[in-house]
Amino acid sequence: MTTRVFTGLKPTGQLQVGNYLGAIRPLLDLAADPDNDVLVCVADLHALTVEHNPSQLRELTLEMAATLVACELNPRATLFIQSSVAAEHTELSYLLESTATYGEMSRMVQFKEKAKAQGAGSTRLSLLTYPALMAADILAHQTEVVPVGDDQRQHLELTTTLARRFNTRYGHVFTVPQGVTPAETARIKDLREPTTKMGKTGSDGAGVIFLRDNPDDIAAKVRRAVTDSDTSLHYDPSSRPGVSNLATLLGALTGMTPEQALVGLTGSGQLKQAVTVALVDTLGPIQKRYQDLRADPGHLRDLLIAGRDFASASAATTVAAAREAIGLLDLA
Ligand code: TYM
Repeated sequence: MTTRVFTGLKPTGQLQVGNYLGAIRPLLDLAADPDNDVLVCVADLHALTVEHNPSQLRELTLEMAATLVACELNPRATLFIQSSVAAEHTELSYLLESTATYGEMSRMVQFKEKAKAQGAGSTRLSLLTYPALMAADILAHQTEVVPVGDDQRQHLELTTTLARRFNTRYGHVFTVPQGVTPAETARIKDLREPTTKMGKTGSDGAGVIFLRDNPDDIAAKVRRAVTDSDTSLHYDPSSRPGVSNLATLLGALTGMTPEQALVGLTGSGQLKQAVTVALVDTLGPIQKRYQDLRADPGHLRDLLIAGRDFASASAATTVAAAREAIGLLDLA
């Protein structure tokens, strides 16, 4: 028996090297294990919970899908676009909304924070109900393991609560999933502000390495990374955040600890040179595959259609069982 692993990523911006090392690479490791059956969705419906631009969303969805394939998620895992299975996922989401309470939904920290920032008049209703859709994404596929970052843990707890409640009230339909947070091997910081996390949308992007940055941009960004005046190299995040961040980055890219990564290097110039080489070596092949995929849209489309067909068949079985359990009439 294989273990069903499921996760999703919202297509809200260009992926950067922090996402790659913190989320995508752990996912690739899970997918490399033949005991796991990994499903990944580009959560475009979730991108509708906040202000968006339609043509940009379509492009970001394609970019995200192509980037994940370029990172070699396929064929180890199945990739699909959430909206391509919208019939099943949103139907189940409604059944789960009818299992959850308003109190539970409005207590979600992400909702509270974003709603407060936007004001009630501009907050989309889907932002409130979105954790039910995320629960539906997960539960539709009888998921056992959900790799997510800390920021999604509350949504995952709600998912397990709803699965248990539904199973208890209406009969066993859902596998109760477990979250796993990737080991904190590499929490990469912004190169210009090495005490702040590298973000999808950095202030001006100067301290963020995007997966599709070309070698010249990478070299320029690394050259301008903040270090300090001490000419020796030590890993000590509190007193030397800039050097330590570069050491963490180099270590994560080359499979070493930050301390090991610094061995044999003297001075921040050499460290920056080594980081640049490691980034170009890692990102170059991903970028090449990305270009090839974008040049052959039919191939990417075929992959996504295969993913959609797999995911919709997998979800349909669960949705049918949930409909029956909750008391909907079956005319078939
Ligand atoms: P999203 O797109 O915001 O983030 C994708 C993944 O990256 C992780 N992540 C982080 N991890 C640690 N620290 C951070 N600051 C950080 N920012 C992002 C996220 O935890 C996530 O693992 N609702 C989800 C997408 C989703 C989903 C799902 C996830 C839709 N359906 C089903 C799991 C299962 C989201 O907005 O993630």
